[in-house]
Amino acid sequence: MPGPPPGPAGDRIAGNLAAFTADPLGFLARCSREHGDVVSIGSRNVLLTAPDDVERVLVDRAGEFAKSSPRTRRRARKQGFPRATMNSDGAVWRSKRARLGPVFARGLVVLAAETAGAEARRIAWPEGAEFDPAPAAARLALRSITFLLFGAAASDRDADAVGRLVHEIMDLSVSPYVLPSWVPTPGALRMRRALRDVSEVVAKARRGDAPVLSALAGADDDEMRDELATLVLSGYETTKNAILWTLHLLAAHPEAADRAAAADSFADAVVREAMRLYPPAWLTSRETLRDVELGGFAVPADTTVSVSQWVTHRDPRWYPEPHEFRPERWLTGADRPRGAYFPFGLGPRACIGAALATAEAVAAVTCLCARFRLLPGDAVVRPRPALSLQPEGLRLRVAVR
Ligand code: HEM
Repeated sequence: MPGPPPGPAGDRIAGNLAAFTADPLGFLARCSREHGDVVSIGSRNVLLTAPDDVERVLVDRAGEFAKSSPRTRRRARKQGFPRATMNSDGAVWRSKRARLGPVFARGLVVLAAETAGAEARRIAWPEGAEFDPAPAAARLALRSITFLLFGAAASDRDADAVGRLVHEIMDLSVSPYVLPSWVPTPGALRMRRALRDVSEVVAKARRGDAPVLSALAGADDDEMRDELATLVLSGYETTKNAILWTLHLLAAHPEAADRAAAADSFADAVVREAMRLYPPAWLTSRETLRDVELGGFAVPADTTVSVSQWVTHRDPRWYPEPHEFRPERWLTGADRPRGAYFPFGLGPRACIGAALATAEAVAAVTCLCARFRLLPGDAVVRPRPALSLQPEGLRLRVAVR
């Protein structure tokens, strides 16, 4: 009979929660280093770091894992957007994904690259002095997603309305006190105003020919709201952070920036390597539907199993000198297990916007490297594991080429 996985859990669950909250990335990396590939990190909570386990959990052919369980569904319903593709399961998810999937295929990917390139050409960075590149990257990512979801007629004002809604939702999701939405707190009032503005953007766009909205044509207002909110939420911050981390790394590696400006294939390797070192999505979870055995350990039903891009992407077994930025890793067909790299997840529930986000980041980075020589700022940059991994403290300097 296999036993439970080792780990720092024991009866010090409160202590682990505190350690995780204080430094999630450090805690996860330490757990894997000290306890191995299958670690009990808390009550009904297991971390898996070996590529084979990552693949087994995310690609799941045996029906052992699901995105949600009855326990987590109850929580999700309270937290919002239950009718989005991202938050559905089973047959409901299948039909939603089949409806949305084709829209995110080729056509929208080409458009994403064009939009991001055009937005990157509008960026005016000051020469010489140190500055924060986040506002420009945020504007680029927000305008791109608004344009892609709501169609070519979407204006800068529409993008601002979408941006306000995203920030209200993010504020709400980190707020420790989630009050019912009818309580007229300043936040709730701002949220209601932001939702109303975005409803107007949607109503206007529905009269146009935006492909995503056409695919959602039969949806009622609630479903439309859930779908669009999760698409914007999952597509905006992540892509913005992927672009920022790439710029951060290129500022420290000018020879890679020169090559990225000259060749799309190298820019692609640069973005891949940036998402290996600084994966915007740093933790992905599933729920066990029955008792399972993982890496020789027993994991009971109704347990959250997490895989961490942050931990697995920096494992020296798959990446020699794992902390070094080496885009060249991606130019040769290295023999690496599939589950060793999963910035967009893997399997049927992998990111619907993966190709789109990559095209957007590559186009933006190529254009910016061609226009500017990037130089690092003086401050120390720290990965901040919010909903998406942010480069806290990032400053750049540029010289116009
Ligand atoms: C660099 C940018 C992005 C990263 C790192 C990222 C990451 C991810 C990851 C890891 C998942 C899988 C989660 C899981 O397995 O539980 C996912 C799912 C998803 N992503 Fe992204 N994403 C990005 C951009 C986008 C964009 C641009 C969109 C759409 C506009 C998008 C929409 C979605 C949706 C709808 C799902 C759920 C798919 C499903 O459940 O069938 N993402 N993303």
